[in-house]
Order: sequence, then structure tokens, then C-alpha cells
Amino acid sequence: MASEHFSAEAERIRQRTMDTLLAAFSELSEGLLIVDRQARIVWMNEKYPRHLGIADPASVIGLPVEDVIPNSLMRSVVTSGKPIMLDIMEFGSESFVVMRLPVRDAAGELIGGVGVMIFDDPRQLMPLVSRFQNLRLELADTRRKLDEARRSKYTFTSFVGASPRCIAVKDKARRAARASSPVLILGETGTGKELLAHAIHAASPRAAGPFVAVNIAAIPDTLLESEFFGVAPGAYTGADRKGRSGKFELAQGGTLFLDEIGDMSLALQAKLLRALQEKEIEPVGSNRLIAIDVRIIAATSRQLAKEVEEGRFRADLFYRLNVMTLDVPPLRERLDDLPLISESLAEALTRQLGEHPRSIAAPALDYLALHSWPGNVRELSNVLERALLMSDADILERSDFEQILPGLGAHAGPTASRGARTLEQLQQDTERQAIAAAISAAGGNKAQAARSLGISRASLYEKLAALGISSATNG
Ligand SMILES: Nc1ncnc2c1ncn2[C@@H]1O[C@H](COP(=O)(O)OP(=O)(O)OP(=O)(O)O)[C@@H](O)[C@H]1O
Ligand SMILES: [Mg+2]
Repeated sequence: MASEHFSAEAERIRQRTMDTLLAAFSELSEGLLIVDRQARIVWMNEKYPRHLGIADPASVIGLPVEDVIPNSLMRSVVTSGKPIMLDIMEFGSESFVVMRLPVRDAAGELIGGVGVMIFDDPRQLMPLVSRFQNLRLELADTRRKLDEARRSKYTFTSFVGASPRCIAVKDKARRAARASSPVLILGETGTGKELLAHAIHAASPRAAGPFVAVNIAAIPDTLLESEFFGVAPGAYTGADRKGRSGKFELAQGGTLFLDEIGDMSLALQAKLLRALQEKEIEPVGSNRLIAIDVRIIAATSRQLAKEVEEGRFRADLFYRLNVMTLDVPPLRERLDDLPLISESLAEALTRQLGEHPRSIAAPALDYLALHSWPGNVRELSNVLERALLMSDADILERSDFEQILPGLGAHAGPTASRGARTLEQLQQDTERQAIAAAISAAGGNKAQAARSLGISRASLYEKLAALGISSATNG
């Protein structure tokens, strides 16, 4: 009974919809035209003739459609039986947006066609088209930025330093790049751990894949799980309703850099260990497992072994990560690199700041070597930036740095502060000072400076290079 009533009602709704559609098209569109199987005009509503410049619609009834509208494609519709859903039709100097549909009888036999002029000016489509285009541009832009961010920024050449410890770390990092096991990078803040992680990825077989970094210290513990493993659709209400990929999925085929891993909660450490062991992850709120192909590089400035001893870091996760370990030396333990790093940083900084290139005087470098550099290379970069901004001279002098890092020589006194230096370093310091003094006494003329020092010009240049003194001055 109910279904009989339903189908009668359904048929009534269908019929009314047809009538409504026809009326709506006829009323709201700019024109409606009906042809028979032979593409002869059967009917036109009163708006259409106005666009075509026809005074009396009755006068065109029965004419082949092309006689009235030369570019009409109604004949192709009634021949092929195929609709043309959206098209732009030229008429004289004007163009219209049109839609053309075949018309069939109750038995499905093709009996004619109907053409609708949707807009009398294609520009009416512009807001729609441009909105679409804008969205496409935005998407392309976002994709490009994301790609850029995921491509690694640094290579091993970016990690400046020629001291034995620095070379050893770089060698080990190069070997790590070729392997696929996890890498653990340890070192004080600002020593270049992140830089090395980028460089390892860039030199690895995964270089073409993404580099995805997660700073564990920067993300609240409650959000980390979904950040790592993603969220299944419907797991949360609101913004995350549709689900979201986690960093593991984003890093597929590439490298996942877990920065500040020492800051991870024990609960999440367990989940991370499982993901690394099983090589699969389970998005929050899903019961689906996703296989992962991701290389892990982890870094921390904490003493991870001590964290394990004191129960703040899981031993099993530590062993899992501690396969290839890089100990990045603090700057104070590789002061030989100070001139080279300073020069390279100063060059990069002047370029960034749009300033003219500057060199650093040898006494200035000696002064910088007295600092303990708790912030390491990052701190050095900040100090150099401040000096560059403060001074306009071509050479940064000791006095520039005395303002930024006051009292280094005074507190400890030259002998005490140099107590820890090797004989070789002391010799180098003396040479550096003597050479700088000779060059300045000679007014920058290096040939004259070499003569006064009793050495050849060539060996002066060798010494300048070895001591990391810029030879940019005239001579
Ligand atoms: N050997 C180096 N040569 C050139 N630049 C370096 C070197 N080491 C570090 N830097 C620069 O110093 C800054 C700090 O480096 P990075 O961010 O890699 O340090 P980090 O060890 O990750 O520090 P943190 O533990 O504080 O996160 C960066 O701008 C980096 O480019
Ligand atoms: Mg870092």
C-alpha cells in the first residue's frame, strides 16, 4: 500500500520537476530554442529573437536553424543524439554561453533538440573561471613552497670547518648518508646538528624524496601523536574531521628528522619505537596500518646516555637510534675553525643583509677565540651580524667585538685564557699578530710586509691562508 502511494507521489514530483525546469530555463535563461529531427526551428521563447535581432519569432518557425543562427550546432545534436553541455557560440560580433540537449520521445526515439542560451555574455562566467584559476594558482604556489621546504637546504660543503674533529664528523656523516640505518646526532646547541641532518639527506639515495622535520620540543605533548602518525577521518570533530596525514606519511620515501628527541615523553617514545620496529604506523582513531619507508635522523642537545641512566629516555629506543652516532664538537673545542667559519658566516651575512663584503682582522679573531661560545656557531653568527651592522669599515676590528663581547681579555688575562692552548696554537697566534702588524705597518703592501718579516711574498700568502687571515687587502 505504502509503496504504491510512494510511486504515485514520486511520479508526480518527477513530472512537476520537469515542468519547473522547463519554465525556469525559459524564464531565467536568456533564450530557449527547440528544433525537430531535421534541425528546423519548432519554437523559440520571446527572449531569444531579441538577441538575434528578429522582430517576429513566428517568422522563423520552420526554417533550418542555420538560416537564423549560422554557427548553431543544433543539427549535430539531433544527428548524434549527444548533448553539448557548455559551449560558447559566436553570433555576429557577439558570443553567447549555450547548452544544447537532444529530446527523445517516450520510447527513447530522438525527436529533436533544445538549445538554451545561459548567458548572453561569456564574461559572466569570468568570476567563476577566475575563482577557479586563483584556487589553482594558490594550490600550485602552496605545493611549490612545500616542496622547497622539504628539499634539503644544505650540503656537506655548508658545514664549514677543516679542523681534524670537524673532518672526522663530516667523514662519518658521509658514510651515514650511504647507509639506511638511523642516525643520531649529538652536540651542544648551535653546533650544526640540523645542518648535518639536511646534508646527510641530500647526500643519501633518498635525496629526491622529502625531508620532513619535526621539532619535538616545539610541539605540545598532547598533539605529538597525531602529528607523527596522522588522524583518521572522523576521529575528531572540527578542523580535523576529514583526517590528516602524519609526518611519517609525509616523509614516505625520504627522511624524517626528529629534532630534540631527548624532549619526547616516555609514552610517545614507546609508540615511536613500535613504529620503527614494525615499520608501520596506525593513524589516531583508525584501525588501519600503513607501511612506512622512512629513514630516521634524530638529534638532541641533551646527554642522551645520561637521560637513559636517569630513566627519562627508554634504553631500547636509545639503542635503536644509536646505530650511527655523530658527536658534533662544540666551537670552543675546534677553535682552529674559528677564522674559516667566521669568514664564511660573514660572507653569507653580508650577502643576506645586502652589505658590502668585509674581512675580519687577525686580532679580532684572536679576541673571539677567548670566548667560550656556549651558543656555538649560532652565537658566532649573531655576534658577527651585530658587528657588521655596527661598523661600516672594510675590516672588522678587535674593538668592534670588544663592544659586543666585553671583557674577554681582561677577566682571565692573556696567559690564563691561553693556558689551555697548544704550543702550535700559541705559535700561530704570534705569527698572526706579527704578520698583521707588518702588513699594517706597510700600509697594506704585502710585498713590503714580507720583506720586513724576512720571508718571501709567496710564503706570506701561504701563511695568510693557513692562519685564516683574509688577503683581500691590496698588496
Ligand atoms: N660548521 C658550520 N658551518 C657553517 N654554519 C654552521 C656550522 N654549524 C652551524 N652553522 C650554522 O649555525 C646555525 C645553527 O645551526 P643548527 O641549527 O644546525 O644547530 P643545531 O645544532 O641544530 O642547534 P640547536 O640544538 O640549538 O637546535 C645555523 O644557521 C647553521 O647554518
Ligand atoms: Mg637544531
